[in-house]
Amino acid sequence: MTAIDAIKGTRDILPEEVGYWQWIESVAREILNRAAYQEIRTPIFEQTDLFARGIGEATDVVGKEMYTFIDKGDRSVTLRPEGTAGVVRAYIENGLHVKGSLQRLWYVGPMFRYENVQAGRQRQFHQLGCEVLGSADPRADVEVIALAIDILTTLGLKDLRLDLNSVGTPDDRQQYREALVNYLTPYKEDLDPDSKIRLTRNPMRILDSKNPETRKIVQDAPKIWDHLAPESRKRFEQVQQQLTDLGIGFTLNPCLVRGLDYYTHTAFEIVAETGLGAQNAVGGGGRYDGLVTELGGPETPAVGWAMGLERLLLLLQQLASAPAIDLDFYVVSRGGKAEPQALQLAQKLRKQGFAVDLDLTASAFGKQFKRADRSGAAACLILGDDEAVNGTVQLKWLGSGEQESMPQANLLEKAAVLRDRIQNLNSKR
Ligand code: HAM
Repeated sequence: MTAIDAIKGTRDILPEEVGYWQWIESVAREILNRAAYQEIRTPIFEQTDLFARGIGEATDVVGKEMYTFIDKGDRSVTLRPEGTAGVVRAYIENGLHVKGSLQRLWYVGPMFRYENVQAGRQRQFHQLGCEVLGSADPRADVEVIALAIDILTTLGLKDLRLDLNSVGTPDDRQQYREALVNYLTPYKEDLDPDSKIRLTRNPMRILDSKNPETRKIVQDAPKIWDHLAPESRKRFEQVQQQLTDLGIGFTLNPCLVRGLDYYTHTAFEIVAETGLGAQNAVGGGGRYDGLVTELGGPETPAVGWAMGLERLLLLLQQLASAPAIDLDFYVVSRGGKAEPQALQLAQKLRKQGFAVDLDLTASAFGKQFKRADRSGAAACLILGDDEAVNGTVQLKWLGSGEQESMPQANLLEKAAVLRDRIQNLNSKR
């Protein structure tokens, strides 16, 4: 029988990689919890209308990339292509605005987009995101950006660039769109095919075209900053000032227009300058003051971001090996009496909180010792039939090779001393 492969654009997260995932999640959870963000888990599929209305019909995500199907009840449902629309739906449906004027939320989970698959771009990918609902204060924009940077720097990532722009209010954009279309129309025939279509459908997206010819044309295009109303400009300046006050560097990028239609005012992306190739946006986000009303809720200003975990992983893999659980003991045993005792000892130690790997192969001691050396454990526990008869065990510290024999009961009584020694060894690794 032929084997069945995973669907193109999806991949398994194997045990050798899972340490990175857990590490990213634990760093993010700690940083976000410390800033009073609460986790929210929303369904991975929703009514198609939620995304069509929320993200915008003219976007690539809605127009080309959604996994949409009709279910057995004749409903059009869509696998979520991003997290924000679902969070906003949950916010409205569960009356979270009544429970507290401000909601600071975060989430992690799989998202689905039917995109061309390449390094850092999959059809099922994972996002970590946060959303602040209920504040128009520019400090909320700066807070979410600062937390994203905290997470990335705590993970040890370097060579990241924060690109910042303001896309203004819908009124600002209306004015700007006109100026942009006026500028671009004479160049229409020189634009790449996608941009030609965008000229009528979504002209601002032409600004982030990757086509070299189009980029040249766009270089001298009018800038949105010159079309921001005084209030919008002031807000943009406040965000910049507060980022500077926090020591967060940024690059102003007037061509940064995000691929989703709900943004107002602040838009940003965090880009890896090396290590990711073409798909170099580690994360992105911004303010979306109109989305809650667009989806039927009360007027609620909001801001947030999402990061792509697969992209973070690609960067982390270039930096460090996957963090593994520090193993305390590797137990080797051989012989009819010793082997069951080894299992009992392992279980007792695990109950005391030690991380213990029990070699189950019953192979020659030499082979088991080799595996013990490779296991990364602090110490090896050795049980042969002599030890089993005497109720003793050999304790060998794998770093120094120091070895002693002791009654098994002593080992358990000395748990606190052993734990101190292991912690001490681990801290020096
Ligand atoms: P986004 O820029 O579409 O924003 O996605 C955020 C991040 O998800 C990207 O920067 C990228 O790292 C990752 N990503 C997107 N598509 C893929 C893919 N096909 N494969 C792998 N990674 C991918 C949003 O989704 C907004 N909801 C962010 C947001 C939250 N804005 C406000 N709040």
